Amino acid sequence: MKKLSTNAVRQIWIDFFKSKEHLFLPPVSLVPVQDPSLLWINSGVATLKPYFDGRLTPPSQRLTNSQKSIRTNDIENVGVTARHHTMFEMLGNFSIGDYFKKEAIEFAWELLTSKKWFDIPVEKLYITVFEDDQEAFDIWTKNIKVSPDHIFKGTRETNFWDVGQGPCGPNSEIFFDRGPSWDPENIGPKLLKDDIENDRYIEIWNIVFSQFNNDGNNNYTDLPRKNIDTGAGLERLVSIFQDAPTNFETDLFMPTIEAIENIADRKKTYNFKAASENKGVINRDNTAFKVIADHIRAVTFAISDGVFPGNKDRGYIIRRLIRRSSVYGRKLGIDKPFLYRLVDIVVGTMKEFYPYLIEKRNLVVESIKTEEEKFLKTLTKGSEMLENVMAKHKIISGKDALLLFESFGFPIELTIELAGEQNIKVDQKEFEILLDSAKEIARNSRKDLKAWDKQNEIFTKLKVESKFVGWDTESNIAKVVYLFQKDKPLNEVTGDEAFVILDETPFYAEKGGQAADRGTLTINGQDFLVIDVQEGPGHQNIHRVILNNKKIKIGDIVETKVDSEKRYFTMKNHSGTHILHAALREVLGNDVMQSGSYNDENGLRMDFNFNRLITLEENHKIQKVVDREIGLQVPREVYFTTMDEAVSKHKALAFFTEKYEGIVRVVKFGDFSSELCGGTHVENTKVIEDLVITSIESKSSGIYRIHALTSHQTVNDYVSEIFNNVIQEAKIIMSKYENSSKTLKDSELIKCYDKLLKVENSKFNIGILKQCLEELKNIFKNYDKKVQDLVISEQISKFSDVKPVLNNDKVNQIEIKAKNLEVKAIKALIDNLINKHKDVIVIVTSQINGENVLAVGVSDSLNTKFPAIDIFKNYKNLSPKGGGNKFFAQGKY
Ligand code: ALA
Repeated sequence: MKKLSTNAVRQIWIDFFKSKEHLFLPPVSLVPVQDPSLLWINSGVATLKPYFDGRLTPPSQRLTNSQKSIRTNDIENVGVTARHHTMFEMLGNFSIGDYFKKEAIEFAWELLTSKKWFDIPVEKLYITVFEDDQEAFDIWTKNIKVSPDHIFKGTRETNFWDVGQGPCGPNSEIFFDRGPSWDPENIGPKLLKDDIENDRYIEIWNIVFSQFNNDGNNNYTDLPRKNIDTGAGLERLVSIFQDAPTNFETDLFMPTIEAIENIADRKKTYNFKAASENKGVINRDNTAFKVIADHIRAVTFAISDGVFPGNKDRGYIIRRLIRRSSVYGRKLGIDKPFLYRLVDIVVGTMKEFYPYLIEKRNLVVESIKTEEEKFLKTLTKGSEMLENVMAKHKIISGKDALLLFESFGFPIELTIELAGEQNIKVDQKEFEILLDSAKEIARNSRKDLKAWDKQNEIFTKLKVESKFVGWDTESNIAKVVYLFQKDKPLNEVTGDEAFVILDETPFYAEKGGQAADRGTLTINGQDFLVIDVQEGPGHQNIHRVILNNKKIKIGDIVETKVDSEKRYFTMKNHSGTHILHAALREVLGNDVMQSGSYNDENGLRMDFNFNRLITLEENHKIQKVVDREIGLQVPREVYFTTMDEAVSKHKALAFFTEKYEGIVRVVKFGDFSSELCGGTHVENTKVIEDLVITSIESKSSGIYRIHALTSHQTVNDYVSEIFNNVIQEAKIIMSKYENSSKTLKDSELIKCYDKLLKVENSKFNIGILKQCLEELKNIFKNYDKKVQDLVISEQISKFSDVKPVLNNDKVNQIEIKAKNLEVKAIKALIDNLINKHKDVIVIVTSQINGENVLAVGVSDSLNTKFPAIDIFKNYKNLSPKGGGNKFFAQGKY
């Protein structure tokens, strides 16, 4: 066997298919473009769907690529098995209506076995085909002359490629035999024939004879053209050419594994020999190395493609991968942020094919480091809590899982996986119910506490002191100084929940437009969730705390811990509000003043005075000014000073609706933004990362309300969602157009659709995109009307020669028995005939959609004597239901 590096394997593939007239397509982003059915690009063909289903003309009918892809359905297997990855590279060759089965199989065989190319001995290769695909079987056995004991027929389950929406069809797979040493019971090819999990025969190539389209609901239609879609896992091929026990002992992953050994100070710990055995302590360590090596690669690529760690969708997966890696790092004894130090190794091993990684390196390092630091702050405590719970219980309750999630940042999937290692289950159902109700409680509590504050006696008598220390800290040690429950002050509380005041607290109470913090209080090793914080009359922050029947008493010493993630995103949004406010003033004039705002972890909202609609151009300018200030990386400054000095020296904006006594707090971002504000803010505008205005609407006369989002991930997700939705809507219009384009073509519509598809995904293009959609809708509306008219005139044209005959009253009459004429067409037909024949009665019956329709029209000259409605009512005793007048009547019978 040849010994080949990863870069050599990839290059040989590409060179081979280039020599067969295939056009090489460079890899595209992991984030699908205009394909809401996919979270990630998950195969080579996923990037080519529009070519396969005929929406776009391919640049060549023969294509080849090596495409980075992500599959995340079994993250917990990654690192445990030999060949699972989150990100992998798929080599492929594709025919779009060009060659089909014969050539596809011949190409595969030549590339794999020819001396000039991969030169794999023929006896090492095995084939499977779909049981009903005799054609493929014959090509393999008769043309290629594969020996009959090297080919097997598989079922729909094993040999039919179908992943929901998109191209699909029967497939043929090629396996590499690693020999009897990987087959301890010496079972041989039966492993393949009976589809038994094994380490001996490795699938290296999947050739899909792509001939159907699945509409997403398992309705299959023939594709306009027969295609070939193939995929070969680069990592697997490389493991064969490097004779590696698993995909990991290759030049793709060993540099990272060795770097982890160095960081953990455990040189030569990774055990090459044991790598593919699934048991024992050695393997527990091996798993940790593999997990980290796999995940850091996926994370580096994803962030480079604009996916940042976040709370949902792709961002959540990246966060999970980073957190899972941190946990495995800890298992190797690494207790500092370290993942970010592996980025350079990944860039080093991948840069030849992905040179853009070099430019993205700093962004990736910074994002990973921030995320790791955030998680590490709580990882040790969270792990301790998890171990305690597991020592005591056979099942982890939903309550504990929620605490781990809310206070320690353990994604639920991570808790499940860590518990699973010790055969302990998690009550997921309870977790989900509690998560929902925690959100609900938080929503309601705000209402409760506010309704209660005005009248409540305790509240008016509350004199105890409490200091807020949370501007720059998220945890401290404090003492319980006041407790009350159901309107009663108490020395000790238990039951469901209570209100707690501490001598000092980092928890921010809802005010000045900033949402309250959430988090935990730990008292004597027990954790209590804080679900809301409101301010008392003497500026005491009052914590609303879930007790779960545990006790708290006055004098208890408390370790406080604010939910740093919620705080972090809230701060980004609050600082975003200040910057946006200053930007509004810069673009719209200094008369603009904020008149109320709200910021929480999900976004920001601000009301301001203005006297006319804001144009799209102004909207863009405002966002550009915000981008400028984020780009300038302006540090935050805070001053405690007098009101006079705040205004004269710091040029702080003071809002007349708020009262300021004594010392005030000024929050400044350079000379650009200066406001009186008690809120928590990011230390530098760069932390805001990005901002997109999602709406500006008129709230009342002279007052506008603006909504916006911050953070790369949130902004990217928002923009992509808008683009996806608009494109979906446009596609629906175009599929209606497809249906009637045989009747009438409309080049303007196609031009408009092309224009819409070309609008580049950017927050600045949302307005243009929506305009394009409106334009498309209008053009389609006119087009559709023309088509309807055409259809009708075609339908009625066959009746244009019908001649009137005299009826019993000696009056000209036309009777038409039609099929499938719609009411609209019947009306047009009657008008048409009356116009043509002047003095005439026209009677039409038609069957449509299982119903019988009768319509009568009478020309002006006759309708006084023979009103249409009378003829209608009495026609052939049909007793029709319907109505009309002397000119026209219609109904069903
Ligand atoms: N699309 C096929 C696969 O991913 C080739 O296996």
